[in-house]
Order: sequence, then structure tokens, then C-alpha cells
Amino acid sequence: MKTLEWRDNKLILIDQTKLPDELTYFTCNNYIDVIIAIKGMVVRGAPAIGVAAAFGMALAYLEDESLEKVAEEIKAARPTAVNLFWAVERTLNSDNPVEEALKMYHEDIDTNLAIGNVGAEIVNDGDTILTHCNAGALACVDYGTALGVVRSAFNQGKDINVICDETRPLGQGARLSVWEMQQEKIPVKLIPDVAAGYLMQQSQIDKVIIGADRVARNGIVNKIGSLMVALSAKHFNVPFYIAAPISTFDKNISIYDTEIEYRNADEVTHYGGCRICPVGTEVINPSFDIVPKDLITGIITEKGIVDPLKLKKFIQDLD
Ligand code: MRU
Repeated sequence: MKTLEWRDNKLILIDQTKLPDELTYFTCNNYIDVIIAIKGMVVRGAPAIGVAAAFGMALAYLEDESLEKVAEEIKAARPTAVNLFWAVERTLNSDNPVEEALKMYHEDIDTNLAIGNVGAEIVNDGDTILTHCNAGALACVDYGTALGVVRSAFNQGKDINVICDETRPLGQGARLSVWEMQQEKIPVKLIPDVAAGYLMQQSQIDKVIIGADRVARNGIVNKIGSLMVALSAKHFNVPFYIAAPISTFDKNISIYDTEIEYRNADEVTHYGGCRICPVGTEVINPSFDIVPKDLITGIITEKGIVDPLKLKKFIQDLD
């Protein structure tokens, strides 16, 4: 089973809120179910959100809804990952949203395999790679971007070790990335987010590879905590790579103009269902942060590795 599948005119999703303890599925019978799944993070990760949104448009088309109206509703589900907006526009402008969504589904898999092949070149035998959040198969239709690079390097026979940041508050690293690596017996260790800097200082990390929710001319936006990892990596001269498909690139804005999603306080006040702070504690819970291009070594895409110094030109030249 892939992260999402289209069966009998329904969208079936792996319910990521239940992993790693239960591998269960969430069925979207209509486009409203897709919005609920995206908002509730049943499906999450920029490419997976994009393809799920495309199938949301496909369901709306089959339900004979106004696609312009539904497009606005789906776009309001989560604000930061540009893939959501890209996918909705692409299906809206197509003759048949079902066929277009299926095309995007297959393209996503091919793109990730290409990113994996391109990115494996920068991975050396013996490398220990730190990753943040989950930019794996679960964040895409399959294979993954950052973890796709890891998979390709591992499948080439390279001896690699993966370190996953826990990724508070929702624990995508602990719950999802560790689970994915364990499924394929890729050596993996979990660290608390706050340990990344120390491990770099101790020369225990050779490279960082993470995903992105948006790549713009002056940097990237990704899961909260990415900036702290990037700053540590710069300080300790650890190469810091982004792996992202072209569908995550945004021609139009500066990263500083990206809308950063703020999520519910209970994600921070509670962990695993238990309250970890006094009742009534006020919370600030930004879900993403901004990594300027001068902290980035390279951006691994299906079209090759983009030098951040040439990012502006690369984005300008995209169709
Ligand atoms: O809030 P999430 O879990 O949707 O955030 C996901 C990330 O930040 C990923 O790193 C990003 O979407 C890239 S996934 C290939």
C-alpha cells in the first residue's frame, strides 16, 4: 500500500496519525473527507498533500460540485506547502480532474525515484545522515525526497546510518521516519531535536538532508526546527541539503512572504495524550520555519542539484 491510493472512485489514505502503532486506512468518499484528512494530518508532507488535494478535486468533479468553489475550500486546508496550491490549480485547469490526479500520482513516484538517483551521488559510503521531520515515502505517494535519497544510496550498497530528529511537537521524525527506515532495515537512530547541534560538534553527522514545503528564490520553508539544524550545520561545516521536487518551487514569492501555519496549542501542551505543562499555559506553535539560501549547500531535484547561489536564475527559468 502506498501513502495514498485511488480505488473505485475513492481515495484511500494511510492514516498517519495512527502510526507507528497501527497501520490503518482512512477512506475519502467525497472532497470534504479529503479536506478533513489534510487538516487533521491523516495525510501530510508537501507532495502527499498535493496529490491528495488533486484527488479531492477529482472527487468534487465526480460529485458534480463547482470546481472553482471546491478549489478555494481545499486551498484553505493548510497554508504553507505550495504543492497543495499547485495541485489544485493543475486539476482545476484540466479537462478531466480524475485523469489529471492519476497522472500526478504516477509523476510523483517517478520524480522521487529521480531525486533519489540524483541525490545518492552526494552520499558517501560510511555517511551518517541527519534528517528532520518526515520527507519520506509517507510524505509523498511513495519513496520520498530526503529519505528517497537515503533509500537510493542504501540500495546502491552504501553503508549508511540515518539519524532522525524527533521533530516536536507532532513527532514526524520519531513516529514516521524511524518507522519507514525500520521497515527497510536501513540503520536508524532517534535523537531529541535538541541533540542535533551537539552531535555535529562531536563530528557524528556527515550530512543533513531534509525536505521542503516551499522553495523560493532566496531559500526554503520546512518543518519547524529546520532553521536550528541549518544554523548548527553552518557553524560546524556539515553539508546541509534540501531534497525537493520542482512542484515545491514557488516562482512568485520570497520565502519571507510564505504564510507560516500556526497550529493548536494542545500539540505543544500535550505529548502522547499527556499534559506536560501547567493547565492554561499559553503557547506559540509555528509549524514551519524559514531557511535562507546561504545556509544551504545544495537543493536536490529531479533535474539535478541546484546551487543556492544560482537558485534565483534556476527558478526564473522554470516553465
Ligand atoms: O506538517 P507536515 O508533517 O506536513 O510537514 C512536513 C514537512 O515539513 C516535510 O519536510 C515537507 O513537507 C517535505 S515532504 C517531502
